[in-house]
Amino acid sequence: MARSLIPNTTWARRLIYELIYLSFGLNRTGMFNVGFAPARPDIRANPAFADRPNQIQLYAEMFDRLPWEADRWRRSDCLELAAGCGGGLLYLNTHRAPRTSIGVEQSNVAVWRARRLGVDVRQGHVARLAFEDEQFDCVFCADAVGYFPVAAALNEAFRVMRPGGYLLLAESFHGSREAARNHFHRIGEAAGFDLLDCHDATDGVRRSLVEGGKRSSFVQRLPGALRDSLKETLFLEGSERLRLWQTGAYSFVIVTFRRPP
Ligand SMILES: C[S@@+](CC[C@H](N)C(=O)[O-])C[C@H]1O[C@@H](n2cnc3c(N)ncnc32)[C@H](O)[C@@H]1O
Repeated sequence: MARSLIPNTTWARRLIYELIYLSFGLNRTGMFNVGFAPARPDIRANPAFADRPNQIQLYAEMFDRLPWEADRWRRSDCLELAAGCGGGLLYLNTHRAPRTSIGVEQSNVAVWRARRLGVDVRQGHVARLAFEDEQFDCVFCADAVGYFPVAAALNEAFRVMRPGGYLLLAESFHGSREAARNHFHRIGEAAGFDLLDCHDATDGVRRSLVEGGKRSSFVQRLPGALRDSLKETLFLEGSERLRLWQTGAYSFVIVTFRRPP
C-alpha cells in the first residue's frame, strides 16, 4: 500500500506542511482538515469559505458542542492549537465573536497566510505555548492531535486555561467510537481535565471524505508513486485510507473537556 506523504519525523513533517501550504492558491483559505458534510447553507454562501465549506463546517460542529450563549462567547478568550492558515479562527471571529482569539501553528507559510486573512496566528509549537498561565477560556484543535506530542500539548492547554475553561478536540481515531472515548478520556484525565462529552461525528466526516475524494482529477495526471502517495494523503477515491473509512474502521469524535473550576 502507498503511504501518506505526511512523514513521522518532526522536521520532515514540518517541511511537508510548508510545501502543502505553499502549493495552495493565494485566493484559497488554505483549510486542511477532513471536513464535515453537509456544510450549512450560510457557510456555503459565504465567499470567504466557498472553496472549503466542509472544512469550515467541522469547526462549526466543534463550537456547537460548547454550551455557551452569545454573551459568554463575547466575554471569552480563545486559543487554537495547530491553527493552520487560520480559516477556523476566521469562522470563529465572524460567527461567535469572542473577545480575543489567537492561533498557534508551526508552519511559517500558514502563519503568513493567516495574516492575509486578518486573523492572529503565531508561529510556535503546541507543546511550548508562549502564554501566561490561566489566560484562555476555550482552547480547541481541529484534526491535528495525531501530529504532535499530545500529552505535552494537553499539559500546556491545561496550564494556559482558566479554571472552568473548556478544551475541544475534533479528531479521527482508528477504532470504534467507544475506543476513541476511552482513549481521549485517558489522555485528558492525565493532563487534569474532566471529560464532559464525546460526540460521534463519524458520518459527517465520512461524507466529506467521499465528496472530497471525487474532486481529484489533477492527481490522476501525476506520475505513479507520487500519485499513489497523494491519494493516501488526501483520502482520494481508490485509496486504502478512504476504503478503511468507508468500512467503518475509523471514527471521528468531538471531545469536550473541562478544567475543573
Ligand atoms: C491537518 S492540519 C490541520 C490544520 C487546521 N487545524 C485546519 O483545520 O486547517 C494539521 C496542522 O498541525 C500543524 N502542526 C503539526 N504539529 C504541530 C506542532 N507541534 N505545533 C504547532 N502546529 C503543528 C501542521 O503544521 C498543520 O497545519
